Amino acid sequence: MQTKTIRRLGSRAKLWLRGYSMLLPYVGIDGWLCVDEAIELFELARALPDDGAVVVEIGSWQGKSSFCLGQGLRGKRAARLCCIDPFDASGDAESADLYAAGADAVGGDLRQRFEHNMREAGLLDHLEVHQGLSHEVAKQWHEPIDLLFLDGDHGYEAVRRDYLDWARHVRAGGFLAMHDVDHGFHDGPRRVVDELVRNDPEWVDGRLVETMFVARRRQH
Ligand SMILES: C[S@@+](CC[C@H](N)C(=O)[O-])C[C@H]1O[C@@H](n2cnc3c(N)ncnc32)[C@H](O)[C@@H]1O
Repeated sequence: MQTKTIRRLGSRAKLWLRGYSMLLPYVGIDGWLCVDEAIELFELARALPDDGAVVVEIGSWQGKSSFCLGQGLRGKRAARLCCIDPFDASGDAESADLYAAGADAVGGDLRQRFEHNMREAGLLDHLEVHQGLSHEVAKQWHEPIDLLFLDGDHGYEAVRRDYLDWARHVRAGGFLAMHDVDHGFHDGPRRVVDELVRNDPEWVDGRLVETMFVARRRQH
């Protein structure tokens, strides 16, 4: 089928036609992640080592991106998907209304909904939930990370802090993905990528997948 026709189809049809039926449940999970970004996260996780891969996600909401990362890790030995979120709908001021409406629609506990979504997908085995703010969790973090996905507080200072706290743990050859870098009203992620990532020779193969910036840490 022509690429132009695929672009006009709904998310489920796009996934199915592109051979990603394993990602179909992601469509039913509330959140913010387009089809190309979902596929990219899945493929990044799937390409990680088969033994002991560590993925850290900052900003999980109800598990839309967590699901894609978890699907990519499926079948890997001793893989860990570490999801960090306060699960209280807090964050940057620009997102406050959106999060409040989303939390209302859940009508209950966001962490419970997140865990329900991951359980339904059969993805609890690799899951490690860190309920809290990323900079607090960072104080106790000392391990190398294979894939870091930043999608928490989108304010400039917060994204900068997340980057400085967490990106240094990404191992040589590991990946950094940042959401909403090419975005209409959030400019925090874009500024951080422009100021700290794009010109840093530590990061190679930088590219945008829709709004998401992806780069790999240089092998020494
Ligand atoms: C844009 S949403 C994440 C969307 C999710 N990745 C998806 O695929 O739908 C951002 C999430 O980050 C959380 N958050 C905000 N500030 C945070 C912080 N400092 N540390 C961790 N999570 C944070 C928000 O409460 C919200 O759940």
